[in-house]
Amino acid sequence: MCGIFGCVLKEGNAAPIIHTSLKRLEYRGYDSVGIATLNNKEIQIKKDQGKIDEVHQRLDLNNLEGNIGIGHTRWATHGAPLKINSHPHTDCKGDIVVVHNGIIENFLELKAELQNLGHTFVSKTDTEVMAHLIEETQKQNPKLTFEQTVLESLKRIEGSYAFAILSTQEPNKIICARNESPLVIGINNQGVFCASDVPAFLSVTNQAVMINNGELVILTAEGYEIKKISDASPITRTPITIEWTPEMAVKQGYPHFMIKEIHEQPQVLRNTLRIQDHYLDLLCTFLDRANEVFLVACGTSYHACLAASYMFSKLAYLPTYPVYASEFLEQHGKSVNIDSTILAVSQSGETADTIAAVACAQQRAATVLSLTNVIGSTLTRISRVYIGTQAGPEIGVAATKTFTSQLSVLAQLALKLAKKRGKISQDEIDCLEEKLQELPNVVDTIVTTQEEKIKQLAKKYSDSKIFFFLGRGISTATAFEGRLKLMEIAYIPAIAFPAGESKHGPISLVEDGFPVVFVCPKDDTHKTTISNIMEMKARGAHIIAIIEEGDQDIKNLAEDYIEVPKDIPAVLSPIPYSVPLQLLAYYTAVEKGYDPDMPRNLAKSVTVK
Ligand code: F6R
Repeated sequence: MCGIFGCVLKEGNAAPIIHTSLKRLEYRGYDSVGIATLNNKEIQIKKDQGKIDEVHQRLDLNNLEGNIGIGHTRWATHGAPLKINSHPHTDCKGDIVVVHNGIIENFLELKAELQNLGHTFVSKTDTEVMAHLIEETQKQNPKLTFEQTVLESLKRIEGSYAFAILSTQEPNKIICARNESPLVIGINNQGVFCASDVPAFLSVTNQAVMINNGELVILTAEGYEIKKISDASPITRTPITIEWTPEMAVKQGYPHFMIKEIHEQPQVLRNTLRIQDHYLDLLCTFLDRANEVFLVACGTSYHACLAASYMFSKLAYLPTYPVYASEFLEQHGKSVNIDSTILAVSQSGETADTIAAVACAQQRAATVLSLTNVIGSTLTRISRVYIGTQAGPEIGVAATKTFTSQLSVLAQLALKLAKKRGKISQDEIDCLEEKLQELPNVVDTIVTTQEEKIKQLAKKYSDSKIFFFLGRGISTATAFEGRLKLMEIAYIPAIAFPAGESKHGPISLVEDGFPVVFVCPKDDTHKTTISNIMEMKARGAHIIAIIEEGDQDIKNLAEDYIEVPKDIPAVLSPIPYSVPLQLLAYYTAVEKGYDPDMPRNLAKSVTVK
């Protein structure tokens, strides 16, 4: 997730407005920033890595001439947060300049093709291909207008994008285009603006035009024209008045970042499915070679590791050891060696315990691989290979979208490894890959159909003094995560354990009305889970079950249930089954009057041991 902004003013310099607007988009990314303006057919660019204020101090972002310009605040997905990878990106001659939010899936093929035609690339980004592609299209079709050239170029682009593009060929306009990444136009009597999101221009106008997928927009000082990318046919759309306050706009109308981020999961999962194969292949090569694999993390990221240990075992027949990072040194510090591989998982990439575990493993010559949401973080700098989880900045302290994005990447890795090691049939792999592709829509369905019901459940159970969260198999990890979410934001003590463990102690706590959340997808553990539900019911427990849609056996037993669409393979189930638990925790916290975005005593990034 990044933020883009552009404006064409009737008079005056665009740079100060772009700078201020990028500040308002900083919640979308903040590892690098850049602005390009057009003045007398000359493109001026200032960009660098760092937060906007830091870069402004070094470069004075307001000091660029021209009434037209574009800007970008970055959250790295391809290429580390370095100056060369900061947007805007240009073609070879510096006549075309592009900012982009999204992921160009086929950038490696396009890059190779353009390099063969003599184009020189300076960055590691996917975005730079667009600038060179426009240059090449123009070279091959010199009679095309700027707009026609962009339309032609877009036909070659696969993936998600919101682009804003300037060209010296027609220096009085910005061309924007959208597929999946958000794009909105603002308009007032000073000029026209394009942005990833309304808050960027809300202080100057509340007149906005929403742009849909498959649309291109031409911005000039006089106004805007919208066209369909497929056939260039014109679209008429008048502005609407935005009633949000700037505060509400940053949260897109949601009351908290946490619920916004829960709702973002379908799009985040789509992004994670765009991770380039060669990164996954590289990681798999190391995992395949390892004598022993430790999955190391804290908190929610540890729960992703726990789920991944089932995925690697079931799909790739690879035993892995999930370890709490804070325990790694004591538990494995002496035995880890050159034949060990550590896969560290961390949203922030800065968690002190995780970094310490990795440092210990490195000292003993182990191979360090990682998965993180923050490219450029300490973890990416000390790992041999890393993959970005593509979730965009997460502002709510409780991890939600970053958890499901970690699970999606780990599932893709497990599948790749299964293929490489030839452990399961091609038919099974094909089926799992298809199911993985369906998950963004599945999560969308859960949020759309179950949210209201979960809100009511939160009301019903918000006075409970304690909860159990139980599951079997991979659902143990889902149960652990559901329990952590509820405990950390709604401050209700909760206990999670594999359901089979009940009779070895915890069941002694159960009495009349004791709420027990069971995570019960219809997998191989279903029958035994039903027995565990019966055990609990016999002691008066109230069962809240997360079930597959239409699972009558459990519906007959549970006091309350939340339904997840059918036919989710067990190894993928933590992704959709954790979503109702995130919502349950969120609405319980809200019901109890707590701020779910800022739970007491907790910080987003824990940089102390
Ligand atoms: C819980 C939560 C924490 C983090 C943990 C590790 O909602 O967010 O438990 O998961 O502090 O953080 P990262 O993943 O940044 O290493």
